[in-house]
This record gives sequence, structure tokens and C-alpha cells, in this order.
Amino acid sequence: MKKASSIIFLFIIISLLLLIINKNNQKLVVTKNKINITNQEIYYPKFGITKLDSYIEKYINEILKNNTASSSKELFIDYDYFNTKEKVNINFYTYTSHNNLASQTVTTINYDLVKGKITKETSLLKTDYSYDIVNQKIIDSNTKLVAFTFDDGPSHNTAKIVDILKKYNATATFFVLGNKVEKYHKTIKYLNDNNMEIGNHTYTHILLTKLNEEKILKEIEDTQNAIYNQIGKYPYFFRPSYGTVSRKIKKTSPLPLVIWSLDTLDWKYHNSKKITNKILSKVKDGDIILMHDTYTATVNAVREVIPKLKEMDYEIVSVSELFYYKNKEARLGYYYGSL
Ligand code: NI
Repeated sequence: MKKASSIIFLFIIISLLLLIINKNNQKLVVTKNKINITNQEIYYPKFGITKLDSYIEKYINEILKNNTASSSKELFIDYDYFNTKEKVNINFYTYTSHNNLASQTVTTINYDLVKGKITKETSLLKTDYSYDIVNQKIIDSNTKLVAFTFDDGPSHNTAKIVDILKKYNATATFFVLGNKVEKYHKTIKYLNDNNMEIGNHTYTHILLTKLNEEKILKEIEDTQNAIYNQIGKYPYFFRPSYGTVSRKIKKTSPLPLVIWSLDTLDWKYHNSKKITNKILSKVKDGDIILMHDTYTATVNAVREVIPKLKEMDYEIVSVSELFYYKNKEARLGYYYGSL
């Protein structure tokens, strides 16, 4: 009897200890939420903290109330967050735009995890627009190369990425969706005028494994034509939607396939620090890095990561340039993840 009660006592003590340890090590489980109404696309996070989550929802609802969508006005909100043991910091980026970028604001919400206190401030989003002359890249044998690729655009964030790349004499390949080309025709021209490479990422972002050869080809060709109609030249590379490669897709594509070797998961994280750290910890010579020019956290990560990559003796290039400088040929019927 005595033995049994001391075992129970010990069990209670251990459970209590585990409870305390758990409480101190509470990891935030952050989920991504999306509201998609005509001409409005809103992303916001949930942290599993009732007070903070309801504050965010109230904030989003208020913006929605003040911005009635119309055919000529669009609203896009996304976010970039980070957290430490003491606080959560969320920057909400609100864009109201016609075709291309118009007005932007950033709202910062800070949550003190210790005190449970919320603060909020809003400011106009400053963008660093610089139009320095692009120099020819000097690639010597010590230079390591990394190709930046951006999928699913163009979007209101594309030009911002171009401007950051230009500042560092860097280039990238933008795998665009055919059905966005006409709407973002100015951005397509902006990419082309600034020596960025435009790649083909299907017309509708459909999963190609579901389609027959004729329909796969139509997805690719419609996109080729949409791009040609804007800039008078065709893309060299095709990246299938979702990076899916099958024997049928390889056989059907009139362009060499380019996948990636480093996935930043930027679409999932919305966390520029995480995206930056992932690139810096994984990058190696010849990598092809996957990002999306649709998200602001990605823009912030690009701004942060390029100077650091330069310090590590990397040049940031487009996929075509990567093939050129690595002296490799892109062949039909093959796919490439890194060089
Ligand atoms: Ni995609």
C-alpha cells in the first residue's frame, strides 16, 4: 500500500514537471489563412493565441470594410512575420492597385508573449527604387553561381524584385503564368527591359499529369504566344506547374525542363528571415533556387540575402546564364535541377 502511494506520488510529480517544461517551451504553431474574393486576395496568419488571432481577424475585417472591391480596384494583403521567445512581430502589407502597383502600406503588429500586450503601427511602405546602369557580369573561375527563379507571377511584387536584383547587378528567371501575361503586360516588358529572363510556367497552373499530350502542349504554347505578343521573343525554358515531371511531359515539351535544387518554401513560411536562413545554410555552387515573386516576405528575403551571397563570392544569375557560364547545353527531353 505504501509502495503504491509513493509510485502515484512520483507519477504526479513527474507529470507536473512535464507540464511546466511544456509550458516554457511552447512552440508556436502558425497556420496560413487565405480569403479569396473577386479582386481581393488576403493572406493572414493564425498563431493559436486567442487574443492575437482575434486582433488580427478584426484588423483584416476592418480593411475589408474600408476597401470595397470594384473591377478597377484590387486589394492584396500578405504578411512577413518572425517570432522569438518573447515576442511575435507581424508586418501586414496592403496593396491597392490597378494592373500594376499603386499604393502600399505596411502595418506592424507586435505581440509581447510575456505580458500578452499588443501594439500596432501603420506607415507608408518605402521602396528603394534605383535605376543604376547594369554592368556586364565578370565571372572568373572562383566565382560561384546560383540561379534565382521566381514562379507564379507576374504580380505587383515582381518589379520590386527586379529593382533589388538590378541594384546588385544580379539577374533571375521569372517563370510566369500565361494567363497573367496580358494583365501584367507592363511588368512583362519591365522584366525584359531589365535583362531578366522570362520562363514558361504553363498557362493556368493546372497539374499536367492530369492532361493528355495535346492539352499539355496547349498549356505551353499558349504561354509562349502570350509572352511573344508582349516582348517579341519566346522563353527558352519550361518549368511545369508544381515542378511535376513525367515521361509524358518530358516527351511533349518543346522546351527543356528546369526544376530546382533548393526550395525556399517561401509560399508556406511568409517569413523573410526563415527564407534567408534557408538559402544561406543550403546554398552551393550551381544551385537553382525556387521562390515566388507573388509574396512580400520573398521580396524582403531577396533584399536581405543578395548582399550576403555576394559576400560569400556568389553571383546571382538567370537559368540561361547558369547554362552559359557553366558551359552546359540544355537539351530537349531532359530536366535540370542544378548545374
Ligand atoms: Ni507554380
